[in-house]
Amino acid sequence: MQALRRWLSLLRNWCLGDQMTRSILLIIGGGIAAYKSLELIRELKKRGIGVKAILTKAGEQFVTPLAVGALTGEKVYQDLFSLTDETEMGHIELSRAADLVVVAPATADLLAKMATGLANDLASTTLLATDKNVLAAPAMNVRMWHHAATQRNIKQLKSDGVAFVGPGEGEMACGEYGLGRLAEPLEIAAAIDALLAPDDLPLKGKHVLITAGPTREPIDPVRYISNQSSGKQGYAIAEAAVRLGAQVTLVSGPVSLPIPPGAGMIPVQTAEEMLKAVEQSLPADIAIFTAAVADWRVASVAGEKIKKRSDGKPPTLSLAENPDILRSIATRKNGRPKLVVGFAAETENVITHAQEKLTKKGCDLIVANDVSEEQGVFGGDANTVHLVSKSGVENWPKLSKAEVATRLMQKLSEMA
Ligand code: C5P
Repeated sequence: MQALRRWLSLLRNWCLGDQMTRSILLIIGGGIAAYKSLELIRELKKRGIGVKAILTKAGEQFVTPLAVGALTGEKVYQDLFSLTDETEMGHIELSRAADLVVVAPATADLLAKMATGLANDLASTTLLATDKNVLAAPAMNVRMWHHAATQRNIKQLKSDGVAFVGPGEGEMACGEYGLGRLAEPLEIAAAIDALLAPDDLPLKGKHVLITAGPTREPIDPVRYISNQSSGKQGYAIAEAAVRLGAQVTLVSGPVSLPIPPGAGMIPVQTAEEMLKAVEQSLPADIAIFTAAVADWRVASVAGEKIKKRSDGKPPTLSLAENPDILRSIATRKNGRPKLVVGFAAETENVITHAQEKLTKKGCDLIVANDVSEEQGVFGGDANTVHLVSKSGVENWPKLSKAEVATRLMQKLSEMA
């Protein structure tokens, strides 16, 4: 029976070719965020990544083995001392059969066990026995996250070589607010994709953070200030970075483009939300700011739709300046990405303005383009860009946005 199963699995891998050759072992810990692991499994299967899962005793309180098994299409492993499991696939083999071990959600308890090398159940024993890379996606209450013990464990695990994705900040299931939310399934999938990328890809192991699209600044519940940015250039850059093996986080304003496969996406509306999402996504090796961030927001957003006045006078909008996201990241004392790249959309004196921006914003490179109407850059598929850095100006010919993205990422991978 056991031999037949192995043979069938080999045959299936052979029929599916390369697609199914990447596989992970997913350890689902016990936390309310465990339900997101189901979405993660679906996302990974869509990407052709095989998933075997270990469901901890606590994890089983939040998701059922039936749901996990139905989505992975595999047996779900739960018990260290299961005779059947041990004869079919021992825990040591389980820990080494996959290309990567992913712990999501990684609870405070699991992280503590990992940091101290405890091995008293199937999950912790597998984690201690594995010879593969481990990615942890922490999820817990904000106070548990900030507790000195957890932070000590995280530091230890990082120095042991464990990779992390998240946690994010926000409203918690317990009603509190802060850091400790499980990263979104798309972000975790992007981190997994990057860790599974072949070793010879130039951006393997690098985190690339990209902003894209316009921001939308509300005036009242139905109106907003925004701009014409389509997001095409930023999305093309995200795709190119994924192809070169990077872990990609795309922080995007509202656009009508599909999420680039393999990239983690954080959707935002306003400049303030974009800044927060960017800060939370650090550290990054390369940060590329293609977003057309609105310079101003309405100082006080009306709670109700603003009505026309009977005297015919239009309302006065008082504006406040938005944070400069690029500048704030490029001038950081701690945690500045090694390479910070800005875009400059200009309608005149393109190079001179780009050189001024390079200094003013403190970035390493400005990709300058002429967006005067006759160039058709906004919403179009082509772009003529000039790369402005301290060492000079590089003029590129008119290229498709996809080609600009590929060349730019290649150049940055050589510099990173
Ligand atoms: O100042 P300007 O909008 O021309 O700067 C363009 C560059 O700065 C782009 O890379 C853009 O994404 C970034 N930027 C930003 N935050 C702002 C304004 C611009 O990140 N508030």
